[in-house]
Amino acid sequence: MLPYGDRSGADLLAAAREGTAIPGFVAYNLETVQGIVAAAEATGRPVLLQAGSSAFKHAGREALMTLALDAARRSSARIGVHLDHSRELDEIAACVEAGYTSVMVDGSHLPFAENVALTRKAVELAHDAGVWVEAELGALAGDEDVSTDAVAAGGTMTDPEQAAEFVAATRVDALAVAVGNVHGFTAEPVRLDLDRLAAIRDAVPVPLVLHGASGLPEEQLRGALARGVAKVNVNAELRRAYLRAVRDALPGALAGSDAVATWHAGRDAVTAAATRITRQLGPAR
Ligand code: 13P
Repeated sequence: MLPYGDRSGADLLAAAREGTAIPGFVAYNLETVQGIVAAAEATGRPVLLQAGSSAFKHAGREALMTLALDAARRSSARIGVHLDHSRELDEIAACVEAGYTSVMVDGSHLPFAENVALTRKAVELAHDAGVWVEAELGALAGDEDVSTDAVAAGGTMTDPEQAAEFVAATRVDALAVAVGNVHGFTAEPVRLDLDRLAAIRDAVPVPLVLHGASGLPEEQLRGALARGVAKVNVNAELRRAYLRAVRDALPGALAGSDAVATWHAGRDAVTAAATRITRQLGPAR
């Protein structure tokens, strides 16, 4: 395990001990970065600002990295800057070098041995720089950036024994699991396989990560927090809040050609949603 710095992994491990979790919120642009940072400041809770990897396609890697790192550094809140779902070692190396506090290497689409090999390489380069690493075993249904609100459950569940082998072979610091969770909103309420989650928790020595928390029923979230989940990823819920606020602000904004009014509305909606979700995950510190 790494000697974590105060701005990153220490918070993750503390959350794991207390049965609470830190949120990993996905940011795409200036307003979503600002909204997430404002939520961290409002709640007094540590937050991971997940800038990239898919959002790099929209914003550009240098631009979004710089924006996220600068916002985190200037904030009075404890904010780690995290790379979400990266398949590329070059990208991981660039984020580590730029100052990200953690990265996720996603080899979940690969056969087991190849996932282990990719993850090991990412762990090597990140640990050399004191950066902690999340990896994924098993695969979630749904898309990371687009949700039709009607994703069906599916994917490949994480096997507890294989998870133990994976963590031992890779020395990864946190493990993202597939236990019925889904990226995006679903037609039917999601029911997690909480027994499987408990078995994974018992089999591996590292904190677990729950992706796809948007729309997850509250009692399912509570069940996950009680079974070793220490980081909870949220994206679609922030996107929806942003878009609805922009839609509502648009008629007035158009009347005055006031683009800033829509950006502010979107940003403030992200702050409100991220604040509510962060409070669900644990008390202020
Ligand atoms: P949701 O879009 O379902 O919240 O999932 C986000 C996520 O897991 C990002 O990695």
